[in-house]
Amino acid sequence: MKKIKLSPSILSCDFRNLEDQLITIQNFGADMIHIDVMDGHFVPNITMGPFIVNHCKSISTLPLDVHLMIESPENHIDSFAKAGADWITIHVEGNPNVYRTLQEIKSMGIHPGIALNPGTPASSIVNLLEVIDMVLVMTVNPGFSGQNHITSMETKVKEISEMILNSGRNIEIQVDGGITHETLPAMFKAGARVFVAATSIFKHPEGIESGIALLRGSIN
Ligand code: DX5
Ligand code: ZN
Repeated sequence: MKKIKLSPSILSCDFRNLEDQLITIQNFGADMIHIDVMDGHFVPNITMGPFIVNHCKSISTLPLDVHLMIESPENHIDSFAKAGADWITIHVEGNPNVYRTLQEIKSMGIHPGIALNPGTPASSIVNLLEVIDMVLVMTVNPGFSGQNHITSMETKVKEISEMILNSGRNIEIQVDGGITHETLPAMFKAGARVFVAATSIFKHPEGIESGIALLRGSIN
């Protein structure tokens, strides 16, 4: 039985060899594929859209974990659903229709997730627990891979852990940003079970396998 799930973020993969890289992470036991969608408005960076999600679907049988860092996500759920997303996480910030959008994701048979930026308090999602399957606690400011992990997010993960326990619902806690073998254990202890990692997997100097093994080994 695996203690944690790993969701490698393809933001730092070698896009010249996307197919090879996706097969490699699957062979080495990744549990999901994290796809970071950015629109240049919600965050300063622009990345990928449904086309890439669909491409990943055609290569891998792993669940696709789509992280939408975009304004008005409600306008794009349908295209990401059609592209093959298995999980869709939207942000709570600046999103007046958040409850409705989460319901819509669920009604399509996709797991809904809610993400919180580092400056957003745990309490902001208390009314959303009944419609989500995952909470994504950002442990960097969203926008780029390769940033330093914000260790103080540990308190927020603990708070959310308690909230979930009290809700009686089965909700995963995912952390995303600067996850390495050094930062993972504290997040695990606080209650996170799904770990997103771009740099520490795809840019590991000894290769993807070593990156994955190091992360898994960090809590043994
Ligand atoms: C940041 C993204 C992350 C990013 C993580 O906005 O949401 O998923 O790819 O990259 P690392 O693991 O390098 O911090
Ligand atoms: Zn992400």
